[in-house]
Amino acid sequence: MPGVVIVGAQWGDEGKGKVVDIYTEHADMVVRFAGGPNAGHTLVVGADKLVVRLVPSGILRPQSTCVLGQGMVVDPATLAAELAELSRRGLLEGRELWLSDRAHLILPYHVAIDTLRERGAGAIGTTKRGVGPAYEDKAARLGIHAGALRDPARLEAAITRALARWAPVARDLGGELPSLADVMAAVAPVREALAARLTDAASLVDGALRAGKKVLFEGAQGTLLDVDHGTYPFVTSSSAIAGGACTGAGVGPTRIGCVVGLTKAYTTRVGGGPFPTELHDDVGEAIRKAGSEFGSVTGRPRRTGWLDLPALRYATVVNGFDGLALTKLDVLTGQPEVRACVAYEVDGRETRDFPLADLDRARPIYRTFPGWSEDLRGARRLEDLPARARAFVDFVSAESGCPLFVVSVGYERDDTIVLRSPFG
Ligand code: GDP
Ligand code: IMO
Ligand code: MG
Repeated sequence: MPGVVIVGAQWGDEGKGKVVDIYTEHADMVVRFAGGPNAGHTLVVGADKLVVRLVPSGILRPQSTCVLGQGMVVDPATLAAELAELSRRGLLEGRELWLSDRAHLILPYHVAIDTLRERGAGAIGTTKRGVGPAYEDKAARLGIHAGALRDPARLEAAITRALARWAPVARDLGGELPSLADVMAAVAPVREALAARLTDAASLVDGALRAGKKVLFEGAQGTLLDVDHGTYPFVTSSSAIAGGACTGAGVGPTRIGCVVGLTKAYTTRVGGGPFPTELHDDVGEAIRKAGSEFGSVTGRPRRTGWLDLPALRYATVVNGFDGLALTKLDVLTGQPEVRACVAYEVDGRETRDFPLADLDRARPIYRTFPGWSEDLRGARRLEDLPARARAFVDFVSAESGCPLFVVSVGYERDDTIVLRSPFG
């Protein structure tokens, strides 16, 4: 059974948590392959709400093994706190949850550097969780593998080297780093518990795929935040696109059978950077309110705007989407009209492509749809949608060239139109 990859098509927060939870009902394994505690994936079942940052969103499904892959950067204290919360809710006992011994550690000095940089002129609106500096260490070949949690002496030596490297950077930024003792003290109480969960994750995933198990690879962030394909430099530091599942989990491209892209029925972005379809008016505010668009990690208000179809087509190309999950359609209910950007004008020329290099000069060209006022939450089939909402959904599918796999009409697990399983 080939693996399935689910990734965001926009700037994150597309509803990956909800859709992964739905698809994991039939999955044996769910694997995070990129990012770290900058992610916040929300799971809602009845009155219970859970936001996971490092643990895969398959955690609510007892039969599914959860894996944190080597493409991730993992803050030990954050992971331990997340596991403690899961345990408190009775969601961890009897579950298999593994951490790659080749994932990289985020330690307090990474968080300190990230925070100091965000105070300065070069701020890009990061989540200040140390993600960027940890990936910098990895690329500089100075990072610390999670496997070092097995060996305190090795860990201490590696942290000493890292502190020496970061000290001048912190000084230039007018700040200080935590001491070696502080860093060791942050890790000590959680070290053994996390060490017990370390494994060779790539082999584990390979074994599951070879055994014909259903393996789902859960993206974090989104295509436009990808370090290679996003709106650089306003991006995260990892490979958020579908290809990142191969490098970040250690599986060959031939093992991936299906890629599902997630998009909201509109667009949001947290942090700085270009956002051509952004709304600065009452409609933007109404969408923020109706969609509860506040960051699940930082609580920051998310910027809101209309759906960007050139961007969605771009995401379709770089990820090779087989199908789309369209989320938060219900949030547009009550808008007198709904818009979608269908093309751009750049220097007097019209293009249907996403003008990644010219976003500062690109002017969106919109198509306007009549709005709808019906509550969509009870819809379970496309036929249940009011005609105007259905017309919008069909347009998105046609313009992106992707069939719809899911249409989500509420934050609850049940408020979902499931059209196709990516497992075939
Ligand atoms: P993720 O990072 O992609 O997992 O998304 P987040 O969890 O950060 O943000 C998505 C938010 O939208 C969460 O609060 C979800 O509970 C919520 N959500 C997901 N799908 C829907 C939907 O179809 N309708 C509504 N109203 N909310 C949704
Ligand atoms: P999920 O997985 C939305 C954004 C930050 C910032 C930029 C760089 O929940 O969709 P970083 O801390 O990664 O160095 O910040 O990336 N960002 C996200 N925005 N959802 C996310 O994750 C994000 N992860 C990072 O706001 O603009
Ligand atoms: Mg999120």
